[in-house]
Amino acid sequence: MAIIEAHGLKKQFKSGKTVVDALCGINLSVAEGGIIGLLGPNGAGKTTLLRILTTLLQPDAGTAQIVGQPIDTGSAAIRRRIGYVSQQGGAEAAATGRENVLLQARLHGLSAAEAKQRVSELLVGFELESIADRVVQTYSGGQRRRLDLAMGMVHRPVLLFLDEPAVGLDPQSRARLWDEVRSLHRGGTSVVITTHYLDEADALCDRVAIIDHGQIIVEDSPAGLKRTLAGDVVRLGIRVDELEQARTLFTNQAFVRDISCEDEHLRLVVEQGETALPQILQLVNDHGLSLQTITLDRPSLDDVFLHYTGRSLRDA
Ligand SMILES: Nc1ncnc2c1ncn2[C@@H]1O[C@H](COP(=O)(O)OP(=O)(O)OP(=O)(O)O)[C@@H](O)[C@H]1O
Ligand SMILES: [Mg+2]
Repeated sequence: MAIIEAHGLKKQFKSGKTVVDALCGINLSVAEGGIIGLLGPNGAGKTTLLRILTTLLQPDAGTAQIVGQPIDTGSAAIRRRIGYVSQQGGAEAAATGRENVLLQARLHGLSAAEAKQRVSELLVGFELESIADRVVQTYSGGQRRRLDLAMGMVHRPVLLFLDEPAVGLDPQSRARLWDEVRSLHRGGTSVVITTHYLDEADALCDRVAIIDHGQIIVEDSPAGLKRTLAGDVVRLGIRVDELEQARTLFTNQAFVRDISCEDEHLRLVVEQGETALPQILQLVNDHGLSLQTITLDRPSLDDVFLHYTGRSLRDA
């Protein structure tokens, strides 16, 4: 069953004379239990899409069903069941961390006893216990982000939206966040995460949608997206006097899609690097070639992004 089903979502912003088409007809389907990453540069429309799916913003056109409820009439039912950690966070700076999470719990209808139990569980889970009774304005950026995350999941949402959750986190906190998301996911929560970190999308998501200029350009599994590119590249360092022999040998192999010489290297494009490597080594051995180096390069999501948008995500 789909936990998110969106069709033709459009949103335009007007301020003064400028008109921005933030969303230009988004179709999106997310299966229950999935983790989908929305990957795109600044201004692509990621936050706008999240605000519509969480019923905080009305689309100009299109429809969406979230947890089986239409966004236009089911907002109360939807909000009870989802969690949303916005890009800027929603903690009250003058209150303590514990008060913030507690308030969220009570707003979501947990009883006083339930809330107390759940809040202390989360404060421990996000390693906030030792600072929980300090006011939030004294927190570091990473501590604040972890508090935002605790607030977003206090009511055990079946669907959690995270807008750029890792921005401002150090590598260690990022790893902890990923662990937390994975553990929530194991518990049955579906997750939508926006990011411009390619490694984050690659590590966490079972689906990735590349979004640019208000449109979803392509959606697939990270591996599937990478497969749409040329394939994996294996570079073989071979003695110059054996290069031609090696070239002839590998040209005749079914697993080799493309072959070229680069300096003293043979560059092979293969379907799947991990199955090609043992075959290559076997052939090298059988024909008595002297192999000096071997490297395997796999396309990254950045290559995928470049392929579909014509520019690098880092430049965008
Ligand atoms: N309330 C608003 N009024 C006017 N323009 C807006 C408003 N909200 C968003 N926009 C514009 O809509 C476009 C999409 O913005 P959005 O925040 O959805 O992008 P994003 O993909 O989340 O970007 P980022 O990676 O920087 O967070 C941008 O051009 C933005 O300036
Ligand atoms: Mg955004």
